[in-house]
Amino acid sequence: MNPRYPSIEHLAIRARQRMPGFAYDYLAGGCMAEVNLAKNTTDIRAVELQPAYLRDYAGASQKTTLFGREYASPFGIAPVGLQGLMWPKSCEILARTARAHNIPFVLSTVTTASIEKVAELTGGDFWFQLYHPADDSLRDKILRRAADAGCKTLVLLADTPTFGYRPKEIKNGLSVPPKMTLSNIVQMCLHPTWSFSQLFAGGIPEFATLKPYIPAGLSMKHLGLFMNKTFSGRLNESRIRAIRDQWKGNLVVKGIVNPEDAEHAISLGIDGLIVSNHGGRQLDQGQSTVKSTAALVKEFRGRTKIMMDSGIRSGSDIAVAMASGAEFVFLGRAPMFGVCAMGSKGGDQVVEIIQKQLQQVMEQLGCERLEDLPRHLAS
Ligand SMILES: Cc1cc2nc3c(=O)[nH]c(=O)nc-3n(C[C@H](O)[C@H](O)[C@H](O)COP(=O)(O)O)c2cc1C
Repeated sequence: MNPRYPSIEHLAIRARQRMPGFAYDYLAGGCMAEVNLAKNTTDIRAVELQPAYLRDYAGASQKTTLFGREYASPFGIAPVGLQGLMWPKSCEILARTARAHNIPFVLSTVTTASIEKVAELTGGDFWFQLYHPADDSLRDKILRRAADAGCKTLVLLADTPTFGYRPKEIKNGLSVPPKMTLSNIVQMCLHPTWSFSQLFAGGIPEFATLKPYIPAGLSMKHLGLFMNKTFSGRLNESRIRAIRDQWKGNLVVKGIVNPEDAEHAISLGIDGLIVSNHGGRQLDQGQSTVKSTAALVKEFRGRTKIMMDSGIRSGSDIAVAMASGAEFVFLGRAPMFGVCAMGSKGGDQVVEIIQKQLQQVMEQLGCERLEDLPRHLAS
């Protein structure tokens, strides 16, 4: 671990210095007034934990089993779109990081490395997140590719029935590649490392998985229209049922925050859900996920695997999420801050920071096993 950046906050500061403003805003920003973005972390940090010092203690283990597979730690790398726009090859870097550290990597439908590339980098050991296409035959083609590539866990995204209203992205004219407004050109000139890496390592970022289905030679305007038309994003019972019928692996629904949706999804035979509000990028007046998780586990623990993301920036945050009932968590922005700050070593830095922090918290609490964390909630 590089001691210059001992926390995710240090990495975020460094990332901001190295990235053009439009790329940093896309990564770090939230929707509307960014209330939900802030609340996700502040609500986690309002939860208090209680240590027990006088018990015999044999040491803490972070190992955990999820869907029959043992992972080194109870956290994974969440799906993030357009990663190559934020830092060249960042998707590939994080896929390698996950493999090296034995944690799950979730590939987004709309990112800049393809299913096949990530399968190669992870030895087929990756999860795939599906934005539901409007056309079922496109869905089937993508699912077949994921299964053929060895993917065992499919994540269906529920929380983007519409694109989030994100004022910073609107102002920056975010698109792929970024619009050449005067302000964006100035930003790129001010961040030569990003621009050179983009030119020499990355090339122009593109939707790698979707490339075969995008008509050649589309202008940026028409690519945007094509994406809007091709991906409806909205999930419903018949869509989940059709996917459950054909997907032989684990099926997870991401973006569940309310008991009615959880009940519905479980009744359709899913294997797990990720309590998520997309990191505060969709519904600004939504509840923080630590609160949603605490409510959902009361009703659904034991009926499906309950995982959580949104707002997690430290090992201490993970301890709180798990004390609140989450059985596994995912990090979206944190690993990206790492890569944008430190390039190819950034993913390792994030995993090492988070593991060390979680270990320290468990040892401080006198907690040996992750499943005992709920006993340390201060009441
Ligand atoms: C820049 C960015 C792009 C994202 N793109 C996707 C995506 O393509 N698919 C998806 O399921 N979630 C996407 N998410 C949401 C993340 O998977 C995750 O739910 C969220 O980042 C968790 O919050 P955190 O960033 O506070 O950890 C994105 C998040 C960010 C920050």
